[in-house]
Amino acid sequence: MKVSKIAIFASGTGTNAEKIIQHFQKEDKKHIAQVSLVLSNRMLAGVLEKAHQYQIPTCVFDRKGFYESSQITDYLQQQEIDLIVLAGFLWLLPSTLIRQFPDKIINIHPSLLPLFGGKGMYGMYVHEAVKAAGASETGITIHYVNENYDEGKIILQRKCTLSPEDTPEDIAHKVQHLEHHYFPLMVENILTNGANKIEELLITI
Ligand code: GRF
Repeated sequence: MKVSKIAIFASGTGTNAEKIIQHFQKEDKKHIAQVSLVLSNRMLAGVLEKAHQYQIPTCVFDRKGFYESSQITDYLQQQEIDLIVLAGFLWLLPSTLIRQFPDKIINIHPSLLPLFGGKGMYGMYVHEAVKAAGASETGITIHYVNENYDEGKIILQRKCTLSPEDTPEDIAHKVQHLEHHYFPLMVENILTNGANKIEELLITI
């Protein structure tokens, strides 16, 4: 079987991107997939430095190049990318890109969508809102990407419990633990079991 090619889009530090890179560099996973490209809208994003550490090619683009041309979509097609993973990428994707990769773009969101999702809900804003709401649990959502923020079909959700004493930083820590564990596993499951077997995927993880 062909080794699948993953492209990761990220705007920030890239701890999730790094977990996915490391997952597919393990001896027993190398035959499944490799992260072949890391893309970012921020020249100084930490994720780019991480990609360089692992000798993964990177691509940086600006708003005009992203929304007003098909360069990125064309490049991803030329590279024969099988799965696009958004790991802390803050821009909406242009519809041409979404149309060219149907059911092949996933995102991770640090809450139990539809709670605490939508425009402006990212990073610590999410965990501060969870705290302000007095929620007794939160978690992660991995979902397909469509043209609206955080609205694509949900693939996987995992929860963690919160105590009233938890600060937004504590909440972030608990959520990140779930992300780092489940995101690489879910990427692997999508690549090996296909997009139509979501029910089975939920059972196997
Ligand atoms: C994660 O919390 C993810 O859920 C969200 O952006 C954050 C990225 O964090 N979409 P990192 O850059 O991977 O550490």
